[in-house]
Amino acid sequence: MSSGYAVIGEARGRHEAWSPARGSEIIADHLAMEGATLPILHAMQETFGYVPQDAVPLIADALNLSRAEVHGSMTFYHDFRNEPAGKHIVKVCVAEACQAAGGNATSERIAKALDCAFGETRPDGQVTLEPIYCLGLCSCAPSAMVNGRLVGRLDDEAVDEIAAECRS
Ligand code: FES
Repeated sequence: MSSGYAVIGEARGRHEAWSPARGSEIIADHLAMEGATLPILHAMQETFGYVPQDAVPLIADALNLSRAEVHGSMTFYHDFRNEPAGKHIVKVCVAEACQAAGGNATSERIAKALDCAFGETRPDGQVTLEPIYCLGLCSCAPSAMVNGRLVGRLDDEAVDEIAAECRS
């Protein structure tokens, strides 16, 4: 990267397409855990990029819960998506340390550069923009996560580079 912003960590790979067999495998891998609902939901989202509606009855049956209970867990924790994300996922920290470091203005610039509102996926499916509440990167604020890669010290140049990455 040519700008002064910090890239911390590696990006994760692309998501798999949903299949009930793969969903059942994920459930089986976590079934013995205490409080398995959240680990399963996280693993589903990690694998598929969202928690497919079809996964809910599988999870409910395996954990002897109602579908409403699984839905309740999903909606309580804002981190879970129930629709596929865009090709690129940009999460911008909106927590206190990042706000104090000018994060509000950065968030606005990113939303404008990506032509995407927070909490939405652009209609062309190219990018999803989400707020996130502290990435543990406060010393490098303002911070974001771009396609699973942590980035800090976001300046105008960094925003331009993120926008360019999201055009690819
Ligand atoms: S407040 Fe943004 S990384 Fe901690």
